[in-house]
Amino acid sequence: MILVTGGAGFIGSNFVLDWLAQFAEPVLNLDKLTYAGNLGNLAALKDDARHVFARGDIGDGALLTRLLNEHRPRAIVHFAAESHVDRSIHGPAAFIQTNVVGTFTLLEAARAYWSALPESEQGAFRFLHVSTDEIYGSLGADDPAFSETTPYAPNSPYSASKASSDHLVRAYHHTYGLPTLTTNCSNNYGPRQFPEKLIPLMIVNALAGKPLPVYGDGQNVRDWLYVGDHCAAIRAVLERGVPGEVYNIGGNAEMKNLDVVHALCRVLSTLKPGHDYASQITFVKDRPGHDRRYAINAAKIRRELGWQPAETFESGLTHTVCWYLDNEVWLTNVTSKTYQQWIDLHYAQ
Ligand code: NAD
Ligand code: TYD
Repeated sequence: MILVTGGAGFIGSNFVLDWLAQFAEPVLNLDKLTYAGNLGNLAALKDDARHVFARGDIGDGALLTRLLNEHRPRAIVHFAAESHVDRSIHGPAAFIQTNVVGTFTLLEAARAYWSALPESEQGAFRFLHVSTDEIYGSLGADDPAFSETTPYAPNSPYSASKASSDHLVRAYHHTYGLPTLTTNCSNNYGPRQFPEKLIPLMIVNALAGKPLPVYGDGQNVRDWLYVGDHCAAIRAVLERGVPGEVYNIGGNAEMKNLDVVHALCRVLSTLKPGHDYASQITFVKDRPGHDRRYAINAAKIRRELGWQPAETFESGLTHTVCWYLDNEVWLTNVTSKTYQQWIDLHYAQ
């Protein structure tokens, strides 16, 4: 069995669904079910005994110890986090609690469990930490893309908290020999992403006839990766990655935000015609400390582990829009009262 944390969120749920579609090996899924976690994401596994769900906090050391000793996983894949930059600006405390203290607590529980394993199992154990390219900070237009040796320079409370967790993971390998792996991935998009992030927010607003709020001048650049490709990269790192190593994961799809929104409007116009979605684009006040450009050099994972993305931005975006059009009930469920409160708080300013 493997233990997945945060498996009811966007990337975690895609990972669990893909895993159980490919392998017989069961998954223990530990998730606190914050606003971003949704068991509806895992509805397809309702009758699948290989999916064991535990609601709980990665900051609860006693719970972690009990789960590890009871289920005896051979690996931990750690997705659980507070993940939205804008929320980290409004309220950073939860980011420190989950991303820093929570990851520390998980590392401590993992270390105790791993230390007590028979030697043969210790060597095979893996702690895979899922992190972000945002820990490297912001690039200028002509700077080379982030590589695994780019110095850390996080700029938001979110990226600073993820950077802290990366450092803890590194230290647990260096000091205790825990067989860790760290992945730093670019912006993901795809089915089941909570509509607070750029692409799903724009889809929801476009369909509702609401403004499409582009921050600042819309020229900030992100490197977009389809979530299924990220999940495949994580499986490759888990299977073939070298303990203690870091792997950057990216889609080779650098785009300006405004171009992303226009591309989305074009896909929507094809799939749901009769409306000029681009006319809803509205420029709004910029995010404080907004990183200008992220770009990933994914040569290491391609060269050493043979991974590369299967989707282009165009194909991935079309799958994504189709999924949102086909899953109105999911959307209605997640755009609840607390979601509206967030939208009112953030976009009113
Ligand atoms: P998400 O916000 O959609 O999901 C996070 C999940 O973690 C939710 O199910 C939530 O309930 C759970 N969770 C939060 N706090 C918890 C706690 N204290 N204990 C247990 N569970 C808790 O996030 P996501 O977009 O799926 O991101 C997953 C991971 O990937 C994060 O670590 C994030 O930093 C990283 N990442 C995300 C992206 C991206 O573009 N979304 C890119 C690179 C890396
Ligand atoms: P987001 O999806 O929040 O990811 P991140 O901040 O982690 O990169 O945002 C992606 C880009 O889109 C980022 O440059 C901010 C911008 N953005 C907007 O222009 N408008 C929005 O309403 C949101 C949510 C994001």
